[in-house]
Amino acid sequence: MDTLKSYFKDDFLIGAAVNKASIDLDRTLLTEQFNSITAENEMKFENIHPEKDRYDFSNSDYFLEVAKANGIALRGHTLVWHNQTPAWFFEDENGHAVSREILLERMQAHIETVVGRYKGQIYAWDVVNEAISDEEGVFFRPSKWLEIIGEDFIDHAFRFAHAADPTAKLFYNDYNESNPGKREKIYTLIKGMKARGIPIHGMGLQAHWNLYDPSLLDIETAIERYSECGVELHITEMDVSMFRFDDKRTDLIEPTKDMLEAQAQRYQDFFKLFLKHRAKITSVTFWGISDRYTWLSDFPVKGRKNWPFLFDTNNQPKPAYDRVLDIK
Ligand code: XIL
Repeated sequence: MDTLKSYFKDDFLIGAAVNKASIDLDRTLLTEQFNSITAENEMKFENIHPEKDRYDFSNSDYFLEVAKANGIALRGHTLVWHNQTPAWFFEDENGHAVSREILLERMQAHIETVVGRYKGQIYAWDVVNEAISDEEGVFFRPSKWLEIIGEDFIDHAFRFAHAADPTAKLFYNDYNESNPGKREKIYTLIKGMKARGIPIHGMGLQAHWNLYDPSLLDIETAIERYSECGVELHITEMDVSMFRFDDKRTDLIEPTKDMLEAQAQRYQDFFKLFLKHRAKITSVTFWGISDRYTWLSDFPVKGRKNWPFLFDTNNQPKPAYDRVLDIK
């Protein structure tokens, strides 16, 4: 009997985001089906570097230990992001913004410490996450990084990460990645970095998709466009929500048969596309393990259950699972 990881073993790694609860609770399903993991929150700045002179590697060390014991690869997420990074990092003792020089020094120290600790053991890092704006006519997303350092904060982050672990593949990671306007901005960013000789090796497509959006055509165009930059592609945070992003309905207690069928079709179409582009895509990660737990049950509507994965709330395969394992 095939599993996800055996079915796609010659194509790409199959990953799941784990957290400190799910890595133990869902261990059986995890080790049967997946050969890559990403920490959902535990390696983000606020958790791994909670105070000025204190790092907390307890969860990430544990994830690495579980990964190693089970022949699973570890993806690193994430070093430089506007979210989940504490305000003190950008301030001096008096609460004033630090200078560009100081923030670059702090960025370097953070990256050296975190990336250096796992040197040779993390196959890919999301070095910079979500730095491009969704707004038309605005290139970079406003953030403390941009405000204090300037536009080259991204280049610096990649240089520091490469120095700390020359073997890790370094990724820029973003969402709405197949939206044509945002796609062209991301393309321009990566193309420019490559031209400047910055060590960037990959583009991470988060793939927070739903039953209706985005279109297959937009996704395929994005895959082709990004690989024109000469980088490899990872699908980094895949989920297929039952709701359109602006659908705020809260009355659904469980997914209907039609929804499960539509989801199975979507997943089959997506994986056919990934397979068609297997020379470009080297890793496909879901942003969770099964419908038992998903961040989408809190986002964008707080407390509304969602069912975005291939396994149901009892960790059993859904129609989408069978459909994905029926494309070769
Ligand atoms: C999410 C986590 O899943 C949540 O638990 C947390 O509260 C917020 O962050 N893009 C990313 C991920 O790059 O880090 C985010 O993860 C989801 C969107």
